Formats: sequence, C-alpha cells, structure tokens
Amino acid sequence: MAGRLAGRRVLALAGRFHMYEGHDAALAAFPTRVLHALGARTLIVSNAAGGIRPTLRPGDLMIIRDHINFMFRNPLIGPVADGETRFPDMSSPYDAGLCALARDIALGEGIILAHGIYCGLLGPTYETPAEVRMLSLMGADAVGMSTVPEVIMARALGMRVLGVSCVTNMACGLSTEPITHAEVIETTARAAAKFERLVSGVVSRL
Ligand code: HPA
Repeated sequence: MAGRLAGRRVLALAGRFHMYEGHDAALAAFPTRVLHALGARTLIVSNAAGGIRPTLRPGDLMIIRDHINFMFRNPLIGPVADGETRFPDMSSPYDAGLCALARDIALGEGIILAHGIYCGLLGPTYETPAEVRMLSLMGADAVGMSTVPEVIMARALGMRVLGVSCVTNMACGLSTEPITHAEVIETTARAAAKFERLVSGVVSRL
C-alpha cells in the first residue's frame, strides 16, 4: 500500500513471506527489493518475538540492535545482481541514528523501549527449552521466525534499517505456560497502538 504517514510518503506491506511457509530466503527478501526499486531508502521492519532476556515481558517493544542469523539461509545466495557486491558488509545492520531517533520518540510518547539482539530461526515450531538456553548463552535477547532475510537484503541495497520486535510471549522454558499462536496474535493487537505511535513519530522525523 502506498500513502502518507506523518507527512511522509510511505509504502506499507501487509504481511511477508516466511521461510517456514516453504519459501526460500530470496523470496522472503523479495518485497524489500521491490520497496527499494520503488525508491524506499529506509526500511522499518517489525516482528513478533519470544522474549529470552528475563526482563522482557509480553507486550514490550524491543529495538533490534543486531541480529543472529540462525536460519542458515541467505537471500543473496546465487548470482550477484547488477550493481550489487558479492560480500556485503553487515557491521551495522540496524542504523544507530534510527535507533536513537526511536528512543527519543519513545521518551516523548511515554513508551518503554527495550533494546536487544534478535535471533531468527526457521520455525515453524517454537523452540525447546534447551534451544532457548543455548540462544541465551549465544547473546540473543529475543527469538523469532522472520526479519533476517529482509534486513540482509536491505543492507545489501544500502537501505537504512530500523527493526522493532513486539515481545509476544516469554520464550519457551521461561514460563510454565505453553506458547500459542493465539497468545502471539492477542499480544500484538494489544501493543499495536503504541507501535503505531512509535512508527508515526519516527517517520515524522525522518
Ligand atoms: N519463538 C519464535 N518465534 C516467535 C515466538 C517465539 O517464542 N513468539 C513469536 N514469534
């Protein structure tokens, strides 16, 4: 969808291609290519994630400072597209200026923001407790099943990226409750209003 948000021209995607649906990484990242081809130079990407860091609670928003690609797939595998490089740098996948801007907007809006490392897995199963313990030891604060292919593509194309996770549940093993998709949907719906305020505020100051 194309339109205006906070006075800026924006393109918005309703959903994404997940690799757990059987798509390869290149297709998961294809919408990012399309956004770039249409002129977008900033990507704001969101996801639902399980909170690994014990202080994260369902409904919290977490600015993604960096990610771990545990999907073991990469959207850039294959021939190098015209004008692109074989080995893109990934030293700053998430733009520090956009993270600071998000922090500033959140302060003004009274939104509590966490910051952390997102780990992308293939899914579609949620993790086991042992996997969550391993991810925690490896430095992950939240875990999900998306986002990594899109961000890799965006960086390869030189786009600036802001990533926001909505923590929808405590990761497996951190709570006695089983994780359900219904809980994930319900929590994202609850966090939608503050997420909208955050994104509108960021867009207004781009
Ligand atoms: N794990 C992986 N993906 C998720 C989770 C989770 O706990 N919650 C929402 N998406």
